[in-house]
Amino acid sequence: MGKEQLKFNSKTIHGGQFPDKAYGAVMPPIYQTSTYAQSTPGGHKGYEYSRSANPTRSALENSLASIENGTYGLAFGSGLAAIDAVIKLLSPGDEVISTNDLYGGSYRIFKRIFENYGIVFHFVGMQDASAIAQYINKNTKLIWVETPTNPMMNIIDIKAVAALAKKHQVLLAVDNTFATPYLQLPLDLGADIVMHSATKYLGGHSDVVVGALVVKDKELADKLYFIQNASGAVCGPMDSFLVLRGIKTLHVRMQRHCENGRAVAEFLAKHPKIEKVYWPGFEDHPNHQIAKSQMKDFGGMISFVPKNGSYKEAIAIVERLQLFTLAESLGGVESLAGHPASMTHASIPAEEREKSGVVDALIRLSVGIEDREDLIADLNQAIQ
Ligand SMILES: Cc1ncc(COP(=O)(O)O)c(C=O)c1O
Repeated sequence: MGKEQLKFNSKTIHGGQFPDKAYGAVMPPIYQTSTYAQSTPGGHKGYEYSRSANPTRSALENSLASIENGTYGLAFGSGLAAIDAVIKLLSPGDEVISTNDLYGGSYRIFKRIFENYGIVFHFVGMQDASAIAQYINKNTKLIWVETPTNPMMNIIDIKAVAALAKKHQVLLAVDNTFATPYLQLPLDLGADIVMHSATKYLGGHSDVVVGALVVKDKELADKLYFIQNASGAVCGPMDSFLVLRGIKTLHVRMQRHCENGRAVAEFLAKHPKIEKVYWPGFEDHPNHQIAKSQMKDFGGMISFVPKNGSYKEAIAIVERLQLFTLAESLGGVESLAGHPASMTHASIPAEEREKSGVVDALIRLSVGIEDREDLIADLNQAIQ
């Protein structure tokens, strides 16, 4: 049976993987080497220098391509390095239409780095995909979608945006960090590029910082491989190994993240001291139907606002949490809590931030895979 015919859970373990050529090692060895012996100039075994390619990174890149139903995978030193490579496909004067509610670091690289190089960004609410069309002009080269969005859990209709992108011959990139390919496959829905902060659910154990891109098109892949090698923001073999190991349990972890996420979201929604809970699994979530059709389940990311909430109240709640760790990041086996206004989204000006709902009292949870009764008990004691 060809490995690419496998179903998702089998792909996480076997997709693009082969026993190591040297001794048949089942897990690819960590090829901790910068260079490779040549018998004559150019006489090598497929690897010359580890910025260009490394066997452990190749194993990860093949796995990434397999689980996202793509053809080509690329691994980078961080999610932001992967984003950096995508924007380097563009030239001065080109325009990008981006989700307005997105990870603060993505906003920062767009605004504070690439605007200086003459690339123009439009930050647009995309919950209604038809709102995007008015920003498309002859300079538009890329639409950047994050769904579910960080931290407001807005859902964007990937199929509808892909149709618009195709019509205008614009590339569509989707940041699939929150959903992961377990829940959502953007390439199957018509996107050209899938991006990940593999630091999060793909790695899954909060022990590594890695980024990823996956594409289907050879010409696009070649351009990105050129940028990956020419700019050099690659991840090392040890980090590649850790993400590869993480991916092998992605499906079982995600299933539990979703179950626990639902339990925590329902607990918060019923709590008398909670004003609002943002989670796409609720039937009254504005794009619940789209989430239902493009995702397999609703994930373990939840944001909420306490009643009469203030900056001070939100900080008091996150400080009282004992099992949830107050920390940046998400997607690990352990539950984390964050305060976007002062942490992950502090790089977005308050005015911009509040326009998309990231108010001072907002708290974001990455619900882990502990016993859900313990997670709920911890939230219950922290919300007073
Ligand atoms: C949705 C999303 N995209 C991109 C990134 C950036 O990834 P990294 O921190 O691996 O550079 C993050 C990091 O938090 C994220 O949450």
